[in-house]
Amino acid sequence: MNLAVRDISRGREIGSGEFRNAMRHLAGGVSVITAGRGDDISGMTVTSVASLAIEPATLTVAINRKASTLPLLLRYGAFGVNILTGGQAGIAERFTGKDGHKGAARFAGSSWTTGAFGVPLLKDALVAITCELEETIERHSHVIALGRVVHLAASEGDSSLAYWRGDYLAIERISGISRTAGGPLPTVHASDE
Ligand SMILES: Cc1cc2nc3c(=O)[nH]c(=O)nc-3n(C[C@H](O)[C@H](O)[C@H](O)COP(=O)(O)O)c2cc1C
Repeated sequence: MNLAVRDISRGREIGSGEFRNAMRHLAGGVSVITAGRGDDISGMTVTSVASLAIEPATLTVAINRKASTLPLLLRYGAFGVNILTGGQAGIAERFTGKDGHKGAARFAGSSWTTGAFGVPLLKDALVAITCELEETIERHSHVIALGRVVHLAASEGDSSLAYWRGDYLAIERISGISRTAGGPLPTVHASDE
């Protein structure tokens, strides 16, 4: 039996609200993934980026099937992963698309460069990674994209953006101790969502 698709529906049905409420306690690093070329570009904020393997350097990201960035990622076979700094909650908000901006319009207000395969990379990202799309796995509402890392550029920055319980938090290292800096950052996400 394929373990990935075995029947796990026995027992109590877990409601979407119950699951969402539980998972909001899991702190997630915030990145903007980008795809496309030239003016045919888009991007979206994600917390689902995860390192899959070190050799070869491979990562995964889970993308909603309805996300407008997905067709570009599939068409061009590549994507960028821009790991955000603690000061970039505004960029994270813009790339949720909540202000109505789509496609290339989302990139206004921040500085971008072009990486391999033409993917947009954020100039002052904490880390900017270019991936070649290796495989996609369609499961439920999402597509899991496996990306082979072909290039990465890490900055000297020491502050990361996290999302936890409906708020953005800047995490930075002070005297060798990691702590959240200054409490929750301004955000349009209500903490009771
Ligand atoms: C903190 C945060 C993390 C998110 N993580 C993901 C994610 O991992 N995968 C995903 O598909 N959508 C995620 N989203 C939602 C997408 O950012 C949003 O649905 C997307 O940008 C909408 O894109 P569209 O308007 O281009 O379709 C996240 C949103 C927020 C605020």
